[in-house]
Amino acid sequence: MQRTLSIIKPDGVKKNIIGEIISRFEKNGLRIAAIKKVFLSKEDAKRFYIVHKERPFYDSLTDFMSEGPIIVMVLEGEDAIIKNRDIMGATNPANALPGTIRRDFAQDVERNIVHGSDSPETAKTEIAFFFSELEIL
Ligand code: CDP
Ligand code: MG
Repeated sequence: MQRTLSIIKPDGVKKNIIGEIISRFEKNGLRIAAIKKVFLSKEDAKRFYIVHKERPFYDSLTDFMSEGPIIVMVLEGEDAIIKNRDIMGATNPANALPGTIRRDFAQDVERNIVHGSDSPETAKTEIAFFFSELEIL
């Protein structure tokens, strides 16, 4: 069993496809161990994406992530990290496989609907950013 952090970004919440996205996780054997809706400030978004602080897209990305509410979830299941990344599709929707969330719904490389942790280490720190152990069931 593995846990990973999933985010439905402001574009996904605005498109009203929260249920559609969660349904794809569930159909692929992932379980929602924790879930809530939050609204990140610009400063919160900068802290969450601190690993990207030197990248040219950091300022624009953190503006985007703080423009509206997001859904944060802990997904649980066998190989949850890679399974979630497979369901999401490639970062740039132009490169994402048909049937993935990003291919089906994303506008461009920035506004790409979902976030998913990329390793066990980042999953641990990203889950702890949003949830206490008591909230993960
Ligand atoms: O989200 P993912 O792990 O697939 O990609 P990342 O390389 O960790 O980048 C984090 C986020 O930054 C992406 O999901 C995009 O929203 C954004 N990004 C961007 O705006 N322009 C890029 N060239 C690459 C990423
Ligand atoms: Mg990433």
